[in-house]
Amino acid sequence: MINSKRPVFFYGGDYNPDQWPEEIWQEDMRLFKLAGVNIITVPVFSWAKLQPSEDTYDFGWLDKVMDLARDNGISVCLATSTAAQPAWMSKKYPEILPVDVEGRKRAHGARVNFCPNSKVYRKFSTALAEKMAIRYKEHPALAVWHVANEYGTYCYCEHCAEEFRNWLKARYGTIEELNRVWNMNFWGHTVYEWDEIVPPSYLNEMGRDVFLGYPRDFTCFQGISLDYNRFMSDSSLECYKREYAVIKAVTPDIPITTNLMGTFKPFDYFKWAEHLDVVSWDNYPAMKEPESNIAMRHDLMRGLKDGQSFMLMEQTPSQQNWQPYNSLKRPGVMRLWSYQSIAHGADTIMFFQLRRSFGACEKYHGALIEHAGHENTRVFRECAQLGKELAALGDKILDSRLDSKVAIVFDWDNWWAVEFSSGPSRELKYVEQVEKYYKAFHDMNISVDMVKPNADFSKYKLVVAPVLYMIKPGVAKSIENFVKNGGVFVTTFFSGIVNENDLVTLGGYPGELRKTLGIWSEEIDALLQDMKNQIVMKEPVGDLQGEYSCRMLCDLIHLEGAKALAVFGSDFYAGMPALTENEVEKGKAYYISSDPEESFIKNLMKYICDNAAIKAPVEAPEGVEVTQRFKEEKSFTFLLNHNNHAVNINLGDLDGLDLLTQRDIRGQISLEAKGVIIMERTEKQ
Ligand code: GLA
Ligand code: ZN
Repeated sequence: MINSKRPVFFYGGDYNPDQWPEEIWQEDMRLFKLAGVNIITVPVFSWAKLQPSEDTYDFGWLDKVMDLARDNGISVCLATSTAAQPAWMSKKYPEILPVDVEGRKRAHGARVNFCPNSKVYRKFSTALAEKMAIRYKEHPALAVWHVANEYGTYCYCEHCAEEFRNWLKARYGTIEELNRVWNMNFWGHTVYEWDEIVPPSYLNEMGRDVFLGYPRDFTCFQGISLDYNRFMSDSSLECYKREYAVIKAVTPDIPITTNLMGTFKPFDYFKWAEHLDVVSWDNYPAMKEPESNIAMRHDLMRGLKDGQSFMLMEQTPSQQNWQPYNSLKRPGVMRLWSYQSIAHGADTIMFFQLRRSFGACEKYHGALIEHAGHENTRVFRECAQLGKELAALGDKILDSRLDSKVAIVFDWDNWWAVEFSSGPSRELKYVEQVEKYYKAFHDMNISVDMVKPNADFSKYKLVVAPVLYMIKPGVAKSIENFVKNGGVFVTTFFSGIVNENDLVTLGGYPGELRKTLGIWSEEIDALLQDMKNQIVMKEPVGDLQGEYSCRMLCDLIHLEGAKALAVFGSDFYAGMPALTENEVEKGKAYYISSDPEESFIKNLMKYICDNAAIKAPVEAPEGVEVTQRFKEEKSFTFLLNHNNHAVNINLGDLDGLDLLTQRDIRGQISLEAKGVIIMERTEKQ
């Protein structure tokens, strides 16, 4: 799919020739070939150079870059350059500049600094994309389209306000309906005319506070704030879609993408992915980021298009420049993390940046070609080594897929709603909760798909929905059917509380999930930061026994058909259910009433997986990640040693060819620190 035109493993990344004199371009080509680079992303931020004024375009220099790539056997991921508008455009059409959440009109500069509803922006960005498509449609180097770069703006200008009203009209039809779904009788918010609606900003409904060191936006009015997020996500998406449409019309066979950012809160990427031919994303973990968090983001990006391979569009060959501490990637880590991306579904490995810029804020950002300017650097050697390995893999792994029996539900609307919620605890962070559950499976090397709440669950044995606070239409029914048909469903405290407009489902929590879970929750207690309660097992359940600590929120629940496997250990609700299990026809549903320590989650997930015969491909020591991708009759087993020491691994029944060393492996093997094995095996039919 990504590489249909050229079935190789794409390796390369962002290249900014416009920041360098032409003499250097030839040398770049030499170095690229030496490193195995076969794709460059150009020109990401060159709008001002491509369009010096309203009526003039200058593609001459880009023609040269395109031809140079072609002559050197390098493909081009062609960026439309529309993430930073030229200064003349902002000057001539100030309406293009956004207004921020504090009501301040922004000035020209930085990047991704445009109003996503600006007609001027949309007109000029679409015109440029179309011109590029027409100009390069036959160019043999053209392989992938890269629209703009890391969209991400929220704007609060007058024009956005107007478009927001139109968006609301289309969604709700009448003002009466709007008043109803937003519950506008609260604080006398009732509106009678559409133009009484103003965007929720720091000037009215919204505010920001810093709690435990983290800034957090809050709102007085969830209904309007949630819809504004949806609208803003849709607004930038509309800019993307317009460029997509003009490009598609000219080059229907070239895949089009824009680079996403993993768990990026402002935009609903499930919705975006419907308009991407292929998902691509930028992976910039901090030095000590747990491997499971990186893995989860890869799985989320793979999940956006239902398991289809994605592009790793950017990672740094070594350090970044924008984190508080920009550590070097230790020897072997860039290679290991690259293979981790592939192990989770990436079909390209690309960097920001190929040559390190010498001015402005990215001059301390790692690059294939460092400021030294030659190939005799550690980073270059590591990149060149990886380039060689990927070239040797050819198209073997491309388009292969993972096969997960476990799904974790992830939902942007739910994320927004949970963190907009005023109470019961400011400590509750949605992604952190999802990460905790994901980690339990990651530690067991059990593959997980990250899915939206209205996904088809039928191919899974286990569906876990941490803090599924918002229940969208149809979701409760689909969970119920999944369980009735033999699935296992797990959810937690603060789930099933509201509908998609953040209005509480009355009659007792967890609302629409109540029947499937066989419980009702009467009250929710919030514990102070240093307070704890305990989850006390009534009797051992698998490896779960004795007591575990829990914190933050405790649901006070009553049984309505479920049985309590554990109870709270202290406070006035000691003895009330803390873990419940409900049998519904062929399946089971579990409810965890609080935020437990890690070992509780791990043991519970292990118990459920054991019962459902969900297993890791290989029993591996701690710190070794194992995944499998499948294509036709082949399986590819990835073994990744994240440890700083060598490990022994027993491959059990698995044997095959290690594609990186071309050696047959079986039985007891050893894997060096940061080492990687990709074992190819023909599965018996
Ligand atoms: C983002 C951008 C790149 C670059 C890198 C630096 O991912 O897309 O243009 O700024 O960050 O890490
Ligand atoms: Zn605007």
